[in-house]
Amino acid sequence: MSVLVTGGTGYIGSHTVAELLAKRYYVIILDNLSNSKRDVVDSIEKITGRTPQFVEGDIRDKALVGRILQEEPIEAVIHFAGSKAVGESVRMPLEYYHNNVYGTICLLETMRDAGCKSIVFSSSATVYGGENVSPLREDMPEGRTTNPYGTTKLTIEKILRELCVSDPEWSVSLLRYFNPIGAHKSGLIGEFPNGEPNNLMPYITQVAAKKLKKLKVFGSDYNTPDGTGVRDYIHVVDLAKGHIRALERVLGRTGCETFNLGTGQGYSVLEIVKSFVRVTGQKVPYDIAPRREGDIATCYSDPSLAEKELGWKAELGLDEMCEDSWRWEEQLNQEA
Ligand code: NAD
Ligand code: WQD
Repeated sequence: MSVLVTGGTGYIGSHTVAELLAKRYYVIILDNLSNSKRDVVDSIEKITGRTPQFVEGDIRDKALVGRILQEEPIEAVIHFAGSKAVGESVRMPLEYYHNNVYGTICLLETMRDAGCKSIVFSSSATVYGGENVSPLREDMPEGRTTNPYGTTKLTIEKILRELCVSDPEWSVSLLRYFNPIGAHKSGLIGEFPNGEPNNLMPYITQVAAKKLKKLKVFGSDYNTPDGTGVRDYIHVVDLAKGHIRALERVLGRTGCETFNLGTGQGYSVLEIVKSFVRVTGQKVPYDIAPRREGDIATCYSDPSLAEKELGWKAELGLDEMCEDSWRWEEQLNQEA
């Protein structure tokens, strides 16, 4: 069975491609390499002993995507391609709407024209906004997004839902990821840092590697057990496995469904730092800093719907997330 994976050389995409190949799917990656490297394909091959087909190109190139869909009997698309940096989206909203929203529309039009109407989409917990109280459930109302990136995800969710209403042949799975961290156990694939990290775990690993001096803990006066922000961190390999289940689901039915992919367990910033230090033996100096604009105190999932309907549950714990994030950081430094 053939699957097109847009953004398949990226962080979550590469781990998902590795899982797909292990399950004997035939995989075609389409990636414009705007935030990943061609070598990732070789790393995936080393891990799985199988080679995905790689096409360098853009989801907005409808002629190219149309050719791929004509040449291969593709049954479904897993759509990761997009821009994901929250702060950058505030500075460059037009680029974010163009790449994420317009890019997805181009992809969907091309899929429709080729008669391929099954898609798994990378959404985000950000669509819950700050109003809903954790644990967040899929039947809660969407919140108010606080940045263009979040609005692109909310908009694409709406487009996909409306598409399923308009044409009952479509089959869509909206996957709302919580906070993916960690890397493949092999140390061969992981997240490539793009400048100074915004997210907590890559910041921690770079402080531990002495590339950055000190972690700033954004706020210690939240209404949480230790005052620091609480999030639902999920190992990227667990997340990748969730995509296989969602893919099987879209191949077996029509309509639009939404699933949280999280662990259901919230950890504070200081709990993450302490676990990382304990598991890796590294030092992570930090200062308490003011709150970061747009942050909320607590965000974690109720993952029971994915367990009930997809038979998927996160299995890897915080120790493995820390250990694997650190192995990847060390490996990056050996390469440099
Ligand atoms: P990533 O940047 O590592 O991967 C995205 C990939 O898409 C990159 O390889 C990039 O080169 C490619 N790409 C971007 N625009 C493209 C285009 N127009 N055409 C073809 N390829 C293009 O990001 P990731 O962390 O793997 O995230 C994957 C998806 O999951 C994104 O849609 C992101 O918004 C979403 N998501 C990520 C997180 C997270 O914290 N990492 C959380 C929730 C949702
Ligand atoms: C986690 C916690 C910070 C950095 C973001 C996006 C979200 C999704 C995942 C794509 C918070 C604290 C962080 C630092 C800190 N991405 N922190 N010092 O903000 O939950 O989610 O990534 O869809 O849309 O908003 O993740 O890793 O940035 O922060 O104290 O240097 O760590 O305040 O409490 P966040 P994060």
